[in-house]
Amino acid sequence: MSGETPLQVLARTGAAASEPSRMRSIERFPYYTSFPFSWYRACTSADLAPGAVKPLRYLNRDLVVWRGEDGAPHVMDAYCPHLGAHLGFGGRVAGCEIVCPFHWWQFDGEGRNTKIPYLETRNSSARIPAYPTVERNGFVFFWYHPRGEAPLWEIPIVAEHGDPGWTPYHEAKWRVRAPWQELAENGPDFVHLRTVHGAVRVPELEAYEVDGWLARLRARVTFDTPRGPRPGRIDTDSWGAGFGVARFTGIIDALFVAVNTPIDFETTEVSFHYSIRKLGDSAEDLERTKRVGEALIRDLEKQEAEDIVIFDHKIHVPHPKLSGVEAPIVKFRAWAKQFYVDGDPRGTNA
Ligand code: FES
Ligand SMILES: [Fe+2]
Repeated sequence: MSGETPLQVLARTGAAASEPSRMRSIERFPYYTSFPFSWYRACTSADLAPGAVKPLRYLNRDLVVWRGEDGAPHVMDAYCPHLGAHLGFGGRVAGCEIVCPFHWWQFDGEGRNTKIPYLETRNSSARIPAYPTVERNGFVFFWYHPRGEAPLWEIPIVAEHGDPGWTPYHEAKWRVRAPWQELAENGPDFVHLRTVHGAVRVPELEAYEVDGWLARLRARVTFDTPRGPRPGRIDTDSWGAGFGVARFTGIIDALFVAVNTPIDFETTEVSFHYSIRKLGDSAEDLERTKRVGEALIRDLEKQEAEDIVIFDHKIHVPHPKLSGVEAPIVKFRAWAKQFYVDGDPRGTNA
């Protein structure tokens, strides 16, 4: 097909967003009966100065993220067990603890009440559920498990982040009306790169392997350049539902960190943070790096808008009629299944 496809016209004009399906997510995605256990992004490190307190809404619940004066970030449920104030609206940090805005009860990073300012005592039964929280690769992550189990894996360190040879992250964020699994299934679906995004060359899959909580995708790609075709690679590692890293190498080296956090069962927040290896240190090299970066953003934003036309409206086909080239999708689904367990009434898609 030459020129813009009808889908690309919808993506460009935004018409796709105007008519959501009347189906509920549980009808569209029947497997999505609970939120998967995973590390999820709460915010970026830059969004959370020492002493900051912010309200969040993820996983069907109100949360608060705050940073103690020792620099440690914390994610907890938002509501004070005393009389129910939301800590994210008017709460403040005192040292390494958070103070409720209503009657100033104070809580530590584990959510334990440590102080009631108008009494000489504290209330040991007043406890706010707190989530294991780590800061890594420029993000604050919290661990969610429907049964409250401790983290089952660690977020790996992304060496490129903070390396002076790489540009700082550029963030691009969307809300999509589909769960993470649908977005992640798009990774091994190389055919859509041609049909949805109009790619002239489709990567060649070398390997798609799943190993516990990790899924690895290895692919060769050919880039067309003014000096002819040049070889490159796309290598993607995904840890659970909330965190994945794609590395593009070849004519330029780029890093895409993809983080998804469910807002509720209807909507997922998708964000990409990408960085490129600087093409050199001179003013001219940096200018060239900037131009390459801007072209990448434009391309990423175009691709995401196109994918969203599909994601916002699609359903899950439990027994898909696949062609011979789509075997990785079956493997992907078997891998994805392991992250769902029940046990959390607030995290159940009833
Ligand atoms: S509601 Fe939080 S201290 Fe009273
Ligand atoms: Fe896509």
